[in-house]
Amino acid sequence: MRILSGIQPSGKLHLGNYLGAIRQHLELQEKGDAFFFIADLHALTTVKDPQLLRENVRDVALDYLALGLDPAKAAFYRQSDIHEIPELAWLLTTVTPMGLLERCTSYKDKIARGISPDHGLFSYPVLMAADILIVDADIVPVGKDQKQHVEVARDIAGSFNHLYGEVLTLPQERILPEAGVVPGIDGQKMSKSYGNDIGIFLEGKELKERVMAIVTDSAPVDAPKDPDANNVFNLVKLFAPSEETAEWRARFAAGGLKYSEIKKRLIALLDERFGAARERRKELAKDSAYVEDVLTRGAEKARTIAVATLKRARRACGIE
Ligand code: TRP
Repeated sequence: MRILSGIQPSGKLHLGNYLGAIRQHLELQEKGDAFFFIADLHALTTVKDPQLLRENVRDVALDYLALGLDPAKAAFYRQSDIHEIPELAWLLTTVTPMGLLERCTSYKDKIARGISPDHGLFSYPVLMAADILIVDADIVPVGKDQKQHVEVARDIAGSFNHLYGEVLTLPQERILPEAGVVPGIDGQKMSKSYGNDIGIFLEGKELKERVMAIVTDSAPVDAPKDPDANNVFNLVKLFAPSEETAEWRARFAAGGLKYSEIKKRLIALLDERFGAARERRKELAKDSAYVEDVLTRGAEKARTIAVATLKRARRACGIE
């Protein structure tokens, strides 16, 4: 079973990214022939600052490796290192109906949010189809916002095969279960674009400041409180063992709980969960040759398959 997923390099990853995607990606590397890549060509549709793009790519690479991506198990590479991807994307573009892309809700949402659409944003799903089809992926684990894009990839593969024969493997999405709602420091869904996120690699004073800034109500200490309405509790329960969560519940209901106490506990839980990864990240950051080497070897592995797929596709449509 070949598993593939792409990661947008969009800056420092936060707890919501960890629970919603990264943790599950890392579990999947144990379950099949895994391919994970940094979608830097896709990022160009939104990041137009070269220095920032380079930094973001490096950050995601360090984050994933520090959190446990194992290059011996999963191929980990930069999308842009596989030149066969954009070439396949062009072949696919010629079998992709306009209407299929016009119906993509992610494109429509981005326009609604005021991003002025370039052609790259419109054809984003075709490039994504090429990412998937080039390595003959069977399973594509994604959040539900990307479900439609994987369906589009399957449709495009179907059209290509219909015209030219059985050349491409039809991929299937695997929707990652949502981690419940991961609240940000203001209680809205944690998202970088809302500026309410808590970074996975924050530590010490910075982490403390961030956690202390989590919005809570101003009920008197003695008053009984509703844990489910409390942003700190809702984060603690995502990282604490269930017996501990039950204890906090009881303490909220009983009254007499100071929010600073549960905030301190949240910091300790995050330190426990991510302490080792933070240290690993610092070491990796000093060893850029190692990180480059991982990405290069990952690209070599992916390219072996990509070259063969592209050759089949070129032959099938009459380019060779
Ligand atoms: N579009 C995906 C996202 O925003 C990233 C991505 C690019 C991807 N290419 C992919 C995911 C191929 C899965 C398969 O999250």
